[in-house]
Amino acid sequence: MRLAGRRPHRVGVVHLTIRDEDRAGDGALYATDGMCTHGNAHLADGMVKGRIVECAKHNGRFDVADGSPQRAPVCVGLMTYPARARDGVVEIDVGHGASGSCTVQT
Ligand code: FES
Repeated sequence: MRLAGRRPHRVGVVHLTIRDEDRAGDGALYATDGMCTHGNAHLADGMVKGRIVECAKHNGRFDVADGSPQRAPVCVGLMTYPARARDGVVEIDVGHGASGSCTVQT
């Protein structure tokens, strides 16, 4: 799979977001659960703005860095996983996930 910046990618059950170095400053990789916690929607079908991924179904938002919900109707965070690129291969450590906290304002 060829990975392109600033768009989500579906990698098995995990959603991978790549931040462009020129736009976001760090070119970081973020891996989260691939399904929205509000409903049956793949986040890879959504849109990414900076660290925020917006679900395509009801426009709920998550911070991909910590999985926290950022806009209703989502109120349950995503699991996040350490991810890195090394020698052209993206590694996602699904054994060390963390749960995003519920901080959404309604
Ligand atoms: Fe994602 Fe509703 S399914 S916001």
